[in-house]
Amino acid sequence: MTTHHSPVVITIDGPTASGKGTVASRVADALGFALLDSGALYRLTAISAINAGIALTDEPALAHLAGSLEVNFTADKILLSGKDVTDTIRAEEVGVAASKIAVLPAVRAALVDLQHRFLRAPGLVADGRDMGTVIFPDALLKVFLTASVEARAERRYKQLIGKGFPANMGALLQDLSERDARDTQRALAPLKPAEGAHMLETSSMTIEAAVAQVLAWYREAVQIK
Ligand code: CDP
Repeated sequence: MTTHHSPVVITIDGPTASGKGTVASRVADALGFALLDSGALYRLTAISAINAGIALTDEPALAHLAGSLEVNFTADKILLSGKDVTDTIRAEEVGVAASKIAVLPAVRAALVDLQHRFLRAPGLVADGRDMGTVIFPDALLKVFLTASVEARAERRYKQLIGKGFPANMGALLQDLSERDARDTQRALAPLKPAEGAHMLETSSMTIEAAVAQVLAWYREAVQIK
């Protein structure tokens, strides 16, 4: 009997500041899987455009930029053309710019191959908006993380302050709502739960509990595969 071991994929999608990044990276660590932070690719494209003076509406130029990103993800750093941008891409204005360019179909198309190239044995945890719906539709386990807008604003506030960025609760709440609207209402790959996704509402849940739940679903999925 031969068994075929293709890499396993777990997708974790959800709105901004829902905690999916932290949950995804801890699940990947626990299982020894690779990690795809797809939002970082949109942030990297956005920051490259800002640095190059390219308008956030110039679709062909942005798609070209996205398709030629020189990125390197190490265990704890993100390098763009050799430069450490791990923290600078987390600035809120980079997130806002990322969500603006993410509505452009040519930009999304230019990032598809790059995202697929993160897949490797024994598995991958992919975090984003369209991981389960578009990029890895055959994933073994799909999770959709949510949290109230207030809980998310609070998490983003702590995250920004922790990284030394300025933050204001009122402005963040507005930012988050606008970003939710842009992400869910865009025509291509809008933010929505994939078919068969497990819903995880984390407003009053610790990160540890969320990670434990995803791992429990994973063990279940492996058994019934
Ligand atoms: O950290 P946060 O959840 O705010 O954002 P992120 O995951 O780093 O993504 C930044 C922006 O990229 C999002 O607001 C989305 O508009 C876009 N994005 C996307 O369109 N598709 C993905 N798979 C990931 C991010």
